[in-house]
Amino acid sequence: MTRSETIKVGVRIPGEAAEYQIICGSGLLESTGDVVRTSLGEDVRRAAVISNRKVFGLYGEAVELSLKRAGISAASFMIGDGERFKTLRTAEKIIGFLNTAGIKRGDAVIALGGGVVGDAAGFAASLHLRGVRLVQIPTTLLAMIDSSVGGKTGVNSSFGKNLIGTFHQPAVVIADVSVLATLDPREMSSGLFEAVKHGAISGERLLRTTEKMIDVRSRDPKVEAAETRAVFAKGITEHVKFKALIVRDDAREAIGATGSRSRKILNFGHTLAHALELATNYRYLKHGEAVGHGVLFAAELSKRLELSPADSIKFLNGVVHRVGGLPTVDKVGFEAVLAALSNDKKSRGGSIDWVLLEGIGRPVIVSDSSFPGGTVRKALRDYLRSTNR
Ligand SMILES: NC(=O)c1ccc[n+]([C@@H]2O[C@H](COP(=O)([O-])OP(=O)(O)OC[C@H]3O[C@@H](n4cnc5c(N)ncnc54)[C@H](O)[C@@H]3O)[C@@H](O)[C@H]2O)c1
Ligand SMILES: [Zn+2]
Repeated sequence: MTRSETIKVGVRIPGEAAEYQIICGSGLLESTGDVVRTSLGEDVRRAAVISNRKVFGLYGEAVELSLKRAGISAASFMIGDGERFKTLRTAEKIIGFLNTAGIKRGDAVIALGGGVVGDAAGFAASLHLRGVRLVQIPTTLLAMIDSSVGGKTGVNSSFGKNLIGTFHQPAVVIADVSVLATLDPREMSSGLFEAVKHGAISGERLLRTTEKMIDVRSRDPKVEAAETRAVFAKGITEHVKFKALIVRDDAREAIGATGSRSRKILNFGHTLAHALELATNYRYLKHGEAVGHGVLFAAELSKRLELSPADSIKFLNGVVHRVGGLPTVDKVGFEAVLAALSNDKKSRGGSIDWVLLEGIGRPVIVSDSSFPGGTVRKALRDYLRSTNR
């Protein structure tokens, strides 16, 4: 894919001063400096690149060189690799670094990495000097289609995952599909499961686009051929457009919003996903894999409650299974998952709002207080067992 095939999507958030761009294509890292200069203007003198050793070892030099060529001095700071480093302590360390590096209001924080780096660096950027500009360079598929778009930043704590955070929109997002070549296959599948989730709630068009990404990836797992990269760049752009649309209409996740365009629908598949992650101490499944199970389970519930036609569910299940590599969960304790779900229920005042489907692209939010007794229990028992068939 040549640079001329770079795709740009503009995102406008009501109440924010300016639109920001998401730029997707191949070989973009080398032009980071120019993109930062064009998007942020002449004020930028310094940039702090926040990353981890693995990602920085692969791509840090390209980014730093490009910044220097554009007359921006760059300093880098590494955080630990993994969800367990997405903490207040890490955010505090990043802020300490931004102070030492002399990052001023006109300067930039550049998050180079997956969702962990993006969330933690974004959170620190929103706090340092009450907010400095943030450039997201997502390097996982999940971060490209999901976490880098939408402005949610945050860290985990003993109170729960992602409960401490801010809304801080990026100034620009640079999604370079060439970096997917080094991504672990399970991480790639994780991103694809999240992509299927988007497709299911958006509509047949996005689901078919996602199917195409899944198919080209199974022929070219490292996304190296020009055609594969082009399919991914196009697909990622479509996903970003969908997420941007939802975020635009409900940027701060309005408390009472439950419509089919509220930000809550993005939680499709996430109720069971979070319970599975908790029940397995966040060790057994990648987040996207848990979402893969969550999508299948929400689809099953939609079928049992006769909300959705069986053929839509069959189509959706087929797409999930084509991603492949979903670890079985039949050995995950049924009671532990149920307990995680009922914890969730207690913290939400006695009932869980499930995102279900009336068909592909027709999400609905339904409280489980309206389900016939035992629905979730029975469906869950059947589901966990069914994964080992
Ligand atoms: N802010 C949001 O709206 C939002 C949305 C979804 C998810 N998230 C958050 O995102 C996080 C998950 O993100 P993730 O799936 O990107 O995980 P991650 O950031 O942990 O990255 C996964 C692994 O891939 C490695 N990696 C990243 N890019 C690579 C590359 N190009 N080549 C080789 N290795 C690479 C990382 O070092 C890490 O080991 C979670 O903390 C989740 O809460 C946030
Ligand atoms: Zn998710």
